[in-house]
Amino acid sequence: MAAREMNKILVTGACGQIGSELTVALRKRYGGENVVAVGRMTEPTIPELRETGPFHMFVDVTERSVLEMVVKKYNIDTIYHMAAILSAAGEQHPQLAWNVNMNGLYNVLEVARERDMVRLFCPSSIAVFGPETPQHDTPQETVLLPKTMYGVTKVAGELLCNYHVQRFGLDVRGVRYPGIISSETPPGGGTTDYAVEIFYEAIKHQRYDCFLREDSVLPMMYMPDCIKGTIDLMEADFASLQHHADFNLAAFSFSPAELVAEIQKHLPGFVCTYAPDFRQAIADSWPKTIDDSAARAEWGWEPAYDLPAMVADMLEKLGKKYEEGKI
Ligand code: SER
Repeated sequence: MAAREMNKILVTGACGQIGSELTVALRKRYGGENVVAVGRMTEPTIPELRETGPFHMFVDVTERSVLEMVVKKYNIDTIYHMAAILSAAGEQHPQLAWNVNMNGLYNVLEVARERDMVRLFCPSSIAVFGPETPQHDTPQETVLLPKTMYGVTKVAGELLCNYHVQRFGLDVRGVRYPGIISSETPPGGGTTDYAVEIFYEAIKHQRYDCFLREDSVLPMMYMPDCIKGTIDLMEADFASLQHHADFNLAAFSFSPAELVAEIQKHLPGFVCTYAPDFRQAIADSWPKTIDDSAARAEWGWEPAYDLPAMVADMLEKLGKKYEEGKI
């Protein structure tokens, strides 16, 4: 059977760190009018989000009727469901995390199933892993016993998505994102957020007080690879996929101290201090490096950026924004 085409795309969480850049990339690829961006509360940090295609605020994925209205209005056949509460925010508001991450996801899956949609992207995270998981080269199939509410919702979410593939033949795909580093929209509420904040502070104040210990190695990825991986998986041939909503995905891993040393190659006067808070326990429960061989074998995943290339590009992009008075 020929693959059905993705003609009308909806991005939820479009004002978020990944959603905002993903929307712009999808519009470049599939046409501005064909990619509808929706967010709940915050104004987009990227002006193009409003300028290059349809954009709606106040679309809360926990309200199924609102979601259905947008889906019907634009005849949506594909959803990138990026709306979620991340790990640190989820520990502060576990009930909210459950509501958004589970009930929101369930609404998206149900609307997609009822309307026989072509494809869905529902991201997972390295937060599905826990202290019992092997920390180095974490395998694709391994122990999933997370200790955060965010992780609990991501494990349940993966299972729910894979269930929809097997039970209803709905084409749901997803990856376990590592920490994502980017220069456009800042992240919010994550444990890996330090790796973005540090750049703003290095450029603006030459100092940063890090909320993780200097030796906390975590898997990370630069946004261009995140976008490429997301779109590549969604364009892969369904027949070549043995996994669906739970692909391990890796680029590089580093500790705060290693990131600081790399930044100091460009900004020798930069000083970092360390004051670990509650996020340290979350970081300690996650793996250090990830085995992503299933993604490589099944749909050709290969990241382009390593740590030095990411740092050079981040400093160039944010340095320019600083000079222009934008940050
Ligand atoms: N970046 C996310 C977080 O820190 C991980 O998925 O919560």
